[in-house]
Amino acid sequence: MYGSDFEDPETVGQPGASALLDEVESAERDLHEAAARTVATGGSTGPGADAALQDYFDAVIAADQKIEPRDWMPGAYRKGLIRQIAQHAHSEIIGMQPEGNWITRAPSLKRKAILLAKVQDEAGHGLYLYAAAETLGSSRDELVELLITGRQKYSSIFNYPTLNWADVGAIGWLVDGAAIVNQVPLCRCSYGPYARAMIRICKEESFHQRQGFEILYTLARGTAAQRQMAQDAVDRWWYPSLAMFGPPDSDSTHSEQSMAWKIKRFSNDDLRQRFVDMCAQQASVLGLSIPDPDLRWNEERGAWDYRQPDYAELFRVIKGDGPCNRQRLRHRRQAHEDGAWVRDAGSAYAAKQAARRAGKRATEQVAAA
Ligand code: 3HC
Repeated sequence: MYGSDFEDPETVGQPGASALLDEVESAERDLHEAAARTVATGGSTGPGADAALQDYFDAVIAADQKIEPRDWMPGAYRKGLIRQIAQHAHSEIIGMQPEGNWITRAPSLKRKAILLAKVQDEAGHGLYLYAAAETLGSSRDELVELLITGRQKYSSIFNYPTLNWADVGAIGWLVDGAAIVNQVPLCRCSYGPYARAMIRICKEESFHQRQGFEILYTLARGTAAQRQMAQDAVDRWWYPSLAMFGPPDSDSTHSEQSMAWKIKRFSNDDLRQRFVDMCAQQASVLGLSIPDPDLRWNEERGAWDYRQPDYAELFRVIKGDGPCNRQRLRHRRQAHEDGAWVRDAGSAYAAKQAARRAGKRATEQVAAA
């Protein structure tokens, strides 16, 4: 389902080339169909309403339909969604930093324009996600405050440095690739606003992954030094990318409940395996190697065997002790403070417009009386 998204340019166009986007489009079609169906158990407000509401919620989940902001939902479902969506939004926003670092140093105007568009997309993704979290009752201000005071997490991957231009390629291919494998199933998440945001995000991420793949493809066919630079970037980003999928299933706190509620559709380990299977095939097209001495095809499992990332390192990075955690948060805090005047100006303008509209309404009422 997720493999074969990239092929040798000589063979592009053969079956299997657009599997990822097909999956997003099929989720989008299902979303429209789900909106047209109704759930038989309808809501109730009389005595015993709590049980009826819970029954309705369970029936919606069982029928693979969407919970919408107006619907009753268990408190833990709401809390779990806010946690995941907020962490996801923060990741998109902090994720602008490692690549933003290369905008002024991109090797050509074309590369610079592409990178600018990509980093700008990440900002947009953060905003869709904060908006989705707002439908659950958490304001964006509140969530941003939790991020900049270090009380809410963001993805471990963005705490690694981008040392050279090939890192931009490796981020696109591996980090955006892992993000897609993780996020395509979220297009089928049971919470409507999150699922809808994910459809748009995944379509854009697919372009991001392609631009990274293309950078590495070009470098791998360049001079010996460029090829070495590409391999070095893949060597450094491989294990942190595997760790993006989270702890192994045996240590995952939220997976079981989250999958029962159809927020997550696959476990961390299942998605990690899909990513490895996808990359093993794509690396051979790139002509680069994956830095894993244990990587080999397992005929019996129909999947690649691979070496697990260092989960002790993942937890250290999550707890704030990665190579760039402090720098990332410091930059984010600074940008937030520097942007205060823009927020103030926006609020002043909105207040002025609201006062004008109220004045106009009052004048019209007097005239009509
Ligand atoms: N980085 C930081 N924290 C992580 C993590 C990681 N790679 N993996 C797991 N964690 C945290 C969890 O958030 C959880 O912490 P909490 O209890 O304090 O909230 C804890 O470790 C235990 O992990 P679980 O497996 O129980 O957590 P989840 O069930 O939530 O699974 C997840 C983790 C797979 C990341 C899931 O939350 C998810 O799918 N989130 C949505 C996607 C997302 O946030 N991706 C981040 C990258 S976005 C991105 O890459 C942008 C793109 O443009 C490149």
